[in-house]
Amino acid sequence: MAHVQRGALLLGVALTAGMVHADAEVEAGRRLFTTVTPACSVCHALLDAGAQGAIGPSLDELKPDHQRVVTALRTGIGQMPAFAHLGEAQIQALARYVSTAAQ
Ligand code: HEC
Repeated sequence: MAHVQRGALLLGVALTAGMVHADAEVEAGRRLFTTVTPACSVCHALLDAGAQGAIGPSLDELKPDHQRVVTALRTGIGQMPAFAHLGEAQIQALARYVSTAAQ
């Protein structure tokens, strides 16, 4: 039984560490969410980012998948401008972040 308990403990530690550190791309996306121009947080609510914008849909409610975020950023949609000035890595980081942080 001891090895089972140790396994569960290690898993718990790994999960906790994963939540605290997330990964670098998700962290970068979280930062970009409030710092790109214009900031996503001006227009969108997203609890994880502390964002309460109400011009666009709540991303917590929309829960867009990765590809939907990438497309919105590349082409713009409705009132939302395209973010063509962002690099590919920044777009990928934002898409990873938004598609995993929406709750
Ligand atoms: C100037 C306000 C504004 C800003 C800034 C903005 N958005 Fe939006 N966004 C909108 C609006 C409005 C919509 C709804 C457009 C529609 O459906 O007509 C939208 C829609 C979306 C959608 C849904 C697209 C779909 O397929 O329905 C996603 C995902 C999204 N935004 C992500 C982001 C991210 C990530 C950022 C920051 C990089 C951002 N938005 C910045 C206004 C904004």
